[in-house]
Amino acid sequence: MLDQRTLSRRSFMRRVLGAGVGLMSLEFLGGTLAFLWPNISEGLGGRLRVGTIDAILDATPRFAEGYPHGVVAARSFLVNVPAARALANGAPSPNPAPAPDEMIALWRKCPHLGCMVPDLCESVKRFQCRCHGSTYNILGEKLEKGPAERGMDRFAVLIEDDGTVVIDTSEILRGAPEGTVTFTDPHPADAGCG
Ligand code: FES
Repeated sequence: MLDQRTLSRRSFMRRVLGAGVGLMSLEFLGGTLAFLWPNISEGLGGRLRVGTIDAILDATPRFAEGYPHGVVAARSFLVNVPAARALANGAPSPNPAPAPDEMIALWRKCPHLGCMVPDLCESVKRFQCRCHGSTYNILGEKLEKGPAERGMDRFAVLIEDDGTVVIDTSEILRGAPEGTVTFTDPHPADAGCG
């Protein structure tokens, strides 16, 4: 027969163990959520001044060749559309200094489950999310590979009177449904960054 002291010691140990497991579960859940939604919206919601085109070219000279300029504060890629199209097709850039309507800002939060979309890959000049493989062309339009049901979301881009490029993160412009593309690059539709 167990005495009262043994019972209460067991019960105490069970509670400590239960609390430990609960704490670990909470930490795991928190870590998972932080991974899936790394930059959910903090810092967004307003107009973010990126700099003049010259400043952008100083920071990312390859912006003139069509490579995206990463804007950390806006969690976005600023894309020079005419140059990006040329880059994806292996042609020389037609447009080192784009007008506002020739730029797009792609939100790096993957429209599938929110992982951060990594930099453009060199092999096929596409974006591919590392979490589940959703693949987007250089303009952020969803291609065949991966579970996302739409292209990358966007923010409006404007240029102020003094030439400063601004990304307006106050409104999220939803990406177009999968299969809606305005541009095709020379690679198979189901090709990822491999
Ligand atoms: S979160 Fe990007 S493909 Fe799932």
